[in-house]
Amino acid sequence: MTVASPAGASSPAYDRSDWASSFGNVSEELTDVPLAATRGTIPAELGGTLYRNGPGRLERGGHWVHHPFDGDGMITALRFTAGGAQLSNRFVRTEGWLAEEKAGTYLYRGVFGTPKPGGPLANAFDLRLKNIANTHVVRLGDQLLALWEASSPHALDPLSLETRGLTLLDGVLKPGEAFSAHPRFDPGHHGATRMVTFGVKAGPRSTVRLMEFAAEGSEAGTLLADSSHSFPGFAFLHDFAITPNWAVFLQNAIDFNPLPYVLGRKGAAQCLKSRPGARGQFWLIPRQDGAFAGQEPRVLEAPEGFVFHHLNAWEDGDAVVIDSIFYADFPSIGPDQDYKEVDFDRIPEGLLERCRLDLASGTVTSSRLSERTCEFAMVPPGRVGLESRYAWMAVAERERGNDPLQALMKLDLQGGKTRVWSAAPRGFVSEPIMVPRPGATAEDDGWVLGLFWNGARSASDLVVLDAATMEEQALVELPLAIPHGLHGSWVAA
Ligand code: CO
Repeated sequence: MTVASPAGASSPAYDRSDWASSFGNVSEELTDVPLAATRGTIPAELGGTLYRNGPGRLERGGHWVHHPFDGDGMITALRFTAGGAQLSNRFVRTEGWLAEEKAGTYLYRGVFGTPKPGGPLANAFDLRLKNIANTHVVRLGDQLLALWEASSPHALDPLSLETRGLTLLDGVLKPGEAFSAHPRFDPGHHGATRMVTFGVKAGPRSTVRLMEFAAEGSEAGTLLADSSHSFPGFAFLHDFAITPNWAVFLQNAIDFNPLPYVLGRKGAAQCLKSRPGARGQFWLIPRQDGAFAGQEPRVLEAPEGFVFHHLNAWEDGDAVVIDSIFYADFPSIGPDQDYKEVDFDRIPEGLLERCRLDLASGTVTSSRLSERTCEFAMVPPGRVGLESRYAWMAVAERERGNDPLQALMKLDLQGGKTRVWSAAPRGFVSEPIMVPRPGATAEDDGWVLGLFWNGARSASDLVVLDAATMEEQALVELPLAIPHGLHGSWVAA
């Protein structure tokens, strides 16, 4: 089926079957397969590894997941050296993956609504969580962490990608403790690079645990700061942002009614419902090594809307400024909907907005930064927590309205100027990763790496762009078909 663009929209139409053809099972695990550029040249200065995570298994025994977010985590590693690249991929050997591989069927319910075979009776009162390790992958010390926010990380070997097992990070975590899939890397506001992250214990009153780990040298993985704060209400916090002195959260105006989940009719995430007309809140927690250490968190009213992801935050005098991707409402896939049939025109689009939190007056003002549907945005790693001139993100091909993400955009946050590389009409992009050139001084000096789904050959491609101009440097066709993915990171050689 071809989706026509509304009058005046500039995009070519895309074919829904191209987009949906990405949903399948990854059939192979490859080891160090050498890659050659199909077009262009891989920059010789690009040295390091791009790690990506996302659902790699979406069907078992003829049963399909209800939502791709319920798919088992699979790690892809693209290693770049001297103008060449190598590809490896491995499923994370979670307890659930191993048991279901053996059984040939789903044994666990998925958080996003995938039932076990057998109807509500087989699912009611089975509240075991399957830690599917599918959301993000980061390097911490001598291990890769495959992250899934509702439970502990899995540790993997950074070279072989073999799963070492669940890790409690040298006793920092209690077994099963929630650990966010969205750590932020502080580039050195308090000395060396740190990984700042959090865990949420949600309930009628929710507790946010803020943790900071050394991320460099032999100290990497050492816990440097650890604090917990409680807030009234059920907390749904997928992401956050940091400044040198604050950890900034946006608590969406959302309620959780667990009954349909307990009774086996819905997945836990399908029981989240936005409170009509209600406002979310910004929660600002002072960082332990910052200027406001020891003070109580600050709470400010947020604009209407729902946020999964933030771009960045920084301090400007008495204000904290945070850029986030706002949706008009919580986008969810109900129990009777098929995600492959989703009508993009009927679900809210993500739009980048800037909120200025005036801590002296307690007021928040907001403004739209771009009218183009976007997701998965980042600033250069060295600008995390500071004002950044540029951001890179995945966007829809047409400039207005909701569509699948088909292009990568560089946005000048000061003047609004954009540069776009597009994979349309048959390509569908994922999160772009901006990699600074070694020794770069300009903020946009480097490359943007993007994996995308190529509907024309039903497989995944890698594109290397010049981060400043968004011109294509290299395109590499991968011998692998990877479903639309979630998050990833770059580890320099
Ligand atoms: Co995310």
